[in-house]
Amino acid sequence: MQKKLVAGNWKMYKDKSETFELISQLKEKLNSFFPDVDVAICPPFTSIELAGELLKNSKIQLGAQNMHSEVEGAFTGEVSAKMLKSFGVKFVILGHSERRTYFKETDEFINQKIKRAIEFDIKPIFCLGETLEERESGKTFQVVENQLTKGLSGISRIDLEKIVIAYEPVWAIGTGKTATPEQAQEVHSFLRKKISELYDSEIAMRVRILYGGSVKPENARDLFKQPDIDGGLIGGACLKADSFYQIILAAQD
Ligand code: 13P
Repeated sequence: MQKKLVAGNWKMYKDKSETFELISQLKEKLNSFFPDVDVAICPPFTSIELAGELLKNSKIQLGAQNMHSEVEGAFTGEVSAKMLKSFGVKFVILGHSERRTYFKETDEFINQKIKRAIEFDIKPIFCLGETLEERESGKTFQVVENQLTKGLSGISRIDLEKIVIAYEPVWAIGTGKTATPEQAQEVHSFLRKKISELYDSEIAMRVRILYGGSVKPENARDLFKQPDIDGGLIGGACLKADSFYQIILAAQD
């Protein structure tokens, strides 16, 4: 079992001064006690440089929320892996359901982005998960298997080591409706089994699979206790230093 990872997805929150405030508060808390947990924050692009400066000499790692699959080119409004790398970015969230839904990102595009991130030594946090309709019609496993297989298409065993998977049921994101620990565990163990079929059981045991969707200090401990849950991708609750810190602490137990 891997060391747990707790990553905060800030989404489209926090301007420059709010970024300064949140990171300063978080550093202060983690300075007094930093548990044996990997911690990353993924602020918006506009805060990446400031976050990178504030996180120098800190164990908190820097992530981004998206990137384009091309290295450079005429893609107005986009940001590349090469650019993120130059600011010290270590993780990038790819395939988030909000990108899939609002920006029509396909599995194929996400797969290209994953490959590009790895090429630039940035660890993808590859998100997948079913909608409420898909769950209610009994399609959860079929949907996540399809997303997993297409997202990992053409990725070698060695490169898989650099990928973190995040199971985020769409119906649990921002809704306050968390998957129960049993519901999450069921999908995580299914994903691990599929990874072991696609690669082998040794690597499947080592790939970190995070859970995301309304993780809060109150439910984090029970989720993180599940055998196949290796940490969390946190939305709303990472926007306040106190609740994010409580979740980080819960990952240590
Ligand atoms: P919430 O924690 O706000 O439900 O968001 C989860 C998420 O989408 C993290 O990527």
